[in-house]
Amino acid sequence: MCGIIAYIGNQEVVPLLIGGLKKLEYRGYDSAGVCLVIDHGLKTVKEKGKVVKLEKSLVKQKLSSTIGIAHTRWATHGEPNQINSHPHLDCSSKIAIAHNGIVENYHALKELLESEGHKIVSDTDSEIIAHLVEKFYQGDLEQAVTKALELIVGSYGLVVMHQDEEKIIAARKSSPLIIGVGDGEMFIASDVPAILKHTKQVIYLQDEEIAIINKDEYSIKNLNGQPVNKKIEEIKWSVDQIEKGGYKHFMLKEIFEQPTSIANVISGRVKDNQIKITVNFDIKKVKRIIITACGTSWHSALIGKYLIEQLTEIPVEVDYASEFRYRQPVVNKEDLLIVISQSGETADTLAALREAKLKGAKTLGIVNVVGSTITREVDSGIYLHAGPEIGVASTKAFSSQVVALLILALYIRQEKKQKLDERLLKDLDNLPQTIKETLGLDADIKKMAKEFKGVTNFLYLGRGINFPVALEGALKLKEISYIHAEGYPAAEIKHGPIALIDQEMPVVFIATKNNLSEKIISNMQEVKARDGKIIAVVNEVTEEIKKLADYTIEVPEVSNKLSPIINVIPLQLLAYHIANDKGIDVDKPKNLAKSVTVE
Ligand code: M6R
Repeated sequence: MCGIIAYIGNQEVVPLLIGGLKKLEYRGYDSAGVCLVIDHGLKTVKEKGKVVKLEKSLVKQKLSSTIGIAHTRWATHGEPNQINSHPHLDCSSKIAIAHNGIVENYHALKELLESEGHKIVSDTDSEIIAHLVEKFYQGDLEQAVTKALELIVGSYGLVVMHQDEEKIIAARKSSPLIIGVGDGEMFIASDVPAILKHTKQVIYLQDEEIAIINKDEYSIKNLNGQPVNKKIEEIKWSVDQIEKGGYKHFMLKEIFEQPTSIANVISGRVKDNQIKITVNFDIKKVKRIIITACGTSWHSALIGKYLIEQLTEIPVEVDYASEFRYRQPVVNKEDLLIVISQSGETADTLAALREAKLKGAKTLGIVNVVGSTITREVDSGIYLHAGPEIGVASTKAFSSQVVALLILALYIRQEKKQKLDERLLKDLDNLPQTIKETLGLDADIKKMAKEFKGVTNFLYLGRGINFPVALEGALKLKEISYIHAEGYPAAEIKHGPIALIDQEMPVVFIATKNNLSEKIISNMQEVKARDGKIIAVVNEVTEEIKKLADYTIEVPEVSNKLSPIINVIPLQLLAYHIANDKGIDVDKPKNLAKSVTVE
């Protein structure tokens, strides 16, 4: 998704903006640009492609300035090219903007502006904003931006500068923006990593707030011009936490961080066979739970359904957030809506949350990024404390989400005065260590991955609580290796997918011990009979498994309710190594964004 960094202060701005853009690369983008104020004029440099290309071009031009805005663009309106890249200028080239989000009434505004003589040069919706500000500009940038925003329908994380005013105006609606407060300098960014090297003091802008920023001070107002008092918050993440720490990719680092991230989500919440979390409403009164999320977070929601229904007997429905928000869902005051999101900024998940709130449901967020929009809008929340997840493919957030859901289910059970299973609690306590053991499989999986880099299709099969793990394994593979992969409940293959099976088709079975183990062995036989290549994730390589499986991955045995967390690890590693062997930039796969802040 697009990224913004802006700076006003005393430092040379070019290296600072480039450094910030590089930290935002993980969000996904296809072009990048900067605009600087130099001698009361604007200088814009934009490039299609990677930030390093932009950097080279800037280094050649030896530009010097202490005020500038910069942007990485992920195309929505108009193809990725230099003209469509941000920042965009008005007709007089005195005003520059960088925008994340979508101007929904862009066609109507474009017609209006063109009828007034504005020349719009790009195919983007964002350029309209520069022209709207120009339309209203009468020597006061703040006023002009406020008037422009009144006409915009849609979402924005926006920064605006004028060549003659020593300030930057920032505004936010449904697209995150933070202000970094320094000493004699200020930063604006769409995410913390972009500015963390320079300051840990940040202010989170809320929807429909405008910030007027110069190097020594800032003021924040609402769209009616009334001042808003904001707290400066301190970021707890260290720079080290968002660097690769010797790993080739963030994704691999994050897979290996799971013993720690899991310890963090459990820490302080499970102690002496008791669950200690705070929920700001009476959870015993909840009659039905709806969990909504997107992508990997939706897969953890599916596992959450098994956990909550089995431990609490409360019925649970799981819905894609993008579907929930538009299907006129039947929701009432006795329902609890749980939203799951690593970023806390996913547009569809946020919209689903707002929809349920309007209908009176209680809401609870399971989120990683502290202070993100979802965390501010839910009634109650459980933070994952997984640390920053930079790789586009979600790994450690997924396992932490599953543990958070288990803790929530155990908490509801405890509140209902039902006994907690001691073996499960013991396994939960040992989970970081069990994950460490499972990560010891990396070298074998790396070797195995080499056999598969040439294949074009994969099937992942699981049953019960491990069916969503099959979905997650398939998603990991397809998003970073571009190999087509499908996840299915193992018994479903007879109803169609079995037609695809031949000696070219690797089939991953999640076949760890549980009440369905025998049934899954029958499913393996069905695949074997059709010459499929079987990769079996098991707890024990029995004689039977030896006969059926071409490859085995032996993972430690844990309570069935914790098995998805262990079983997903070899699948994360398999996807990683196949993609890496194919030479793909695993952290930034094509067409994908880390945080999808548009619908
Ligand atoms: O930040 P969120 O958890 O709300 O993001 C949801 C999805 O966009 C995300 O899980 C996506 O599917 C990842 N690329 C999966 O690896």
